Amino acid sequence: MSTVILEHPLERKDTLESFRDSLLVWYDEHKRKLPWRSEPSLYKTVVSEFMLQQTRVSTVLPYFERWMKQFPDFSALAEAPEEQVLKAWEGLGYYSRARNLLKLAKEVDSWEGIIPEDAQSWQSFPGIGPYVAAAVTSISFGSPEAVCDGNVVRVLTRLFAHGELFKDGASAQRKLRPLASDLLDTRRPGDYNQAMMELGATVCHRKSPLCLACPVIDHCRGAKNGGAENFPNLAQRKKSRQKLRRYWVESENGLLLHSADMDSARLAGIYELPERLPKNMGKIARKAEHLVTRKRTIGQVDYEEQIFGASARYMEKHPLPRQYRWVARPELGEITLSGPHRKWIEEIGMSQGSSLPNLKQLPSQSGKAKIS
Ligand code: ADE
Repeated sequence: MSTVILEHPLERKDTLESFRDSLLVWYDEHKRKLPWRSEPSLYKTVVSEFMLQQTRVSTVLPYFERWMKQFPDFSALAEAPEEQVLKAWEGLGYYSRARNLLKLAKEVDSWEGIIPEDAQSWQSFPGIGPYVAAAVTSISFGSPEAVCDGNVVRVLTRLFAHGELFKDGASAQRKLRPLASDLLDTRRPGDYNQAMMELGATVCHRKSPLCLACPVIDHCRGAKNGGAENFPNLAQRKKSRQKLRRYWVESENGLLLHSADMDSARLAGIYELPERLPKNMGKIARKAEHLVTRKRTIGQVDYEEQIFGASARYMEKHPLPRQYRWVARPELGEITLSGPHRKWIEEIGMSQGSSLPNLKQLPSQSGKAKIS
């Protein structure tokens, strides 16, 4: 057993066996029916695990179903243009995952059926870290690799009432990986890993865990001490606030949108309402009127984004800097917008009296905005 945690009953072979058995019996009976679990394939496992990083199962489900129809296997995905792949990912966020999945599909397609089955080889592929490598190889090939994601950290720290202060979730995962490996049931590694994640997601909740429904409560020191909720002990990260100004500017050619450079990990190729207007629109920026304020949180930052609207009629002939473009109404459905921006654009469009933005009804530079 790893040296991370000492003197726990799970260090004894018989109790460890009983823990694994209880967990797997529970999983066999209670596991959710998820589309990547029925008729599983390597492709379904890879796609689902890419999507599930930092994203809940309920959010992923409709994306996964659509994705499988659009790109049913590695070859179909490998042949798809990047814009189409990003579009299918629209709203899931962390778009580097979609780009890496596309790169991976191209690699897999070139292997001609010779597929490595060990986690170390998988970690050398684009966008694959220890979590996806362990999940994919254990589920698809039965490799003895333990996953240690946020759910597993929660289950492990509670089982062992392990109160060490971790600076963040990633360092907790790194530190507890050896313990996760010690507990792994190597006879059914894929099911064991999924059972641990499932337990974390459906029973061992962050707040108000359902300890009485837990199949391994007899092994859980945290629950016995009445303090499961106290684990894991993660340092409180300071939140910060940021105020942003964004512009809703239309010309006869459509709505002005901006996309980040290709080296932006989070948003490359994804369109948003611009934070800054091109230099030759200085006058428009000064005259823009407040339309609406929206709040959202990304990581540890609370953003307050004020959207200002203006018309740029007659500006359509002026050349735009590289990252800007006018997007005509029918095209808005085709390009990839960041999730919140699509909502804002639909909302502002509707407030102007149509389901999509309508240039004619936008406030003129001197007119009054309709929403605020
Ligand atoms: N979270 C991420 N992958 C999962 C899986 N395969 N089963 C349950 N929860 C998960």
